[in-house]
Amino acid sequence: MKVLVVGSGGREHTLVWKLAQSPQVEKIFCAPGNGGTAALVQNVPIQVTDYAALAQFAKDEEIDVTIVGPEDPLLGGIVDFFTLRNLPIYGPSANAAKLEGSKSFAKCLMKKYNIPTAEYESFLDYESAIAYVREKGAPIVIKADGLAQGKGVILAFSLEEAEEAIRQIMQDSKFGQAGSRVVIEEFMRGEELTLLSFIDGETVKPMIPSQDHKTVFDGDKGPNTGGMGAYAPVPQVKNSDIQHIIDKIVQPMASAMVKEGIPFRGVLYTGLMLTEDGPKVVEFNARFGDPETQVTLPLLETDLVDIVMATINGTLADLDIKWSKQSAVTVVMASPGYPGDYPKGAVISGLDVSVADSPEEDKQEMVFHAGTKQEAGHFVTNGGRVLAVTALGDSLQLAKEKAYQAVANISFTGAHYRRDIADKAFKKV
Ligand code: AMP
Ligand code: GLY
Repeated sequence: MKVLVVGSGGREHTLVWKLAQSPQVEKIFCAPGNGGTAALVQNVPIQVTDYAALAQFAKDEEIDVTIVGPEDPLLGGIVDFFTLRNLPIYGPSANAAKLEGSKSFAKCLMKKYNIPTAEYESFLDYESAIAYVREKGAPIVIKADGLAQGKGVILAFSLEEAEEAIRQIMQDSKFGQAGSRVVIEEFMRGEELTLLSFIDGETVKPMIPSQDHKTVFDGDKGPNTGGMGAYAPVPQVKNSDIQHIIDKIVQPMASAMVKEGIPFRGVLYTGLMLTEDGPKVVEFNARFGDPETQVTLPLLETDLVDIVMATINGTLADLDIKWSKQSAVTVVMASPGYPGDYPKGAVISGLDVSVADSPEEDKQEMVFHAGTKQEAGHFVTNGGRVLAVTALGDSLQLAKEKAYQAVANISFTGAHYRRDIADKAFKKV
């Protein structure tokens, strides 16, 4: 088979790495890819939202399936575009991807189908939004409605911060169009958890639970990022809680989408908060998580191609998906300044041995590239999140030690990373 992966982050490098392990796959392309995918497969210089060029490429190269990583093309309708042209593609339609693209759409559906989530209101009008936070008080959560790369969420601990956030989103257009509507939510306390699921309409096949680290500094301090590290599984969360999440949240949402006439096919990302009142949804995304993928796919024992093709053929229910008993930890190394402005072009050293450039299944440490490119025989930084270093181990503790040992071998000017990835699991067990 020939496969095209769309995207250029650590998630896509992980997808490419996993697909390369499949005996069914002969050739993989990645559009546009990054330095790491270039070392492993063939990068194609087409941007993720250039649907016409991607479809033409898939047609010319007789691609058997295209797999979409990021949200932008999904929301923009790449799946609809390909499907109309009879080109096989894995991911939700634009209408189904609205679960991620519009927080108010997702919130309305959750309300309609009794899926537990934070209490909320959404506003198009600045004065009403301000009046609402004054009535509710702090702490309170302010969110830009549309896509904002994980950065459009402000946890306001005082009324002043809440009002300032609303002003920035609605009046100063800090997140552009994404902020023409704001969602204001109850502040939830508790452990966070990501549950990715393979979904084919009604059929839900949950993956191994994982936990992201959203803020930039240790101890969950500082501004939110795209994610600074992750681990899987999450031992402090009981199996009964996971089952409850599947029965009361993920399955009802999959069924709701079918009832609404917009069945979801692809990967559904459920971000949860385990509150005192039980698990509640923080957000849905319409795709694999980044960096959750970097710890989830290395633990997947079933051929990813089988899962993708079963979803496209509507036979996912018949597939038994197997997971490794090992644990995985990934640590993101970021450019100085990220999630704010950062320089590019710093030479990355220490990568020679550890690039995830071979699909060997027994490899215990992998470096998944995100913001890198190759220049004059070197890898250089080319983004905020530069690399994710994943290690596997028979325990989370071992996986963590191995991941940090591997991180210590890699350097670039100003590199920063969190030192406490997975520590929440050790505090509680
Ligand atoms: P989101 O983009 O909706 O996932 O939000 C980003 C992060 O903000 C989440 O991962 C949580 O850590 C935090 N967050 C979002 N909504 C809430 C909420 N209602 N209460 C507390 N924290 C939240
Ligand atoms: N790790 C957060 C996300 O993928 O949205």
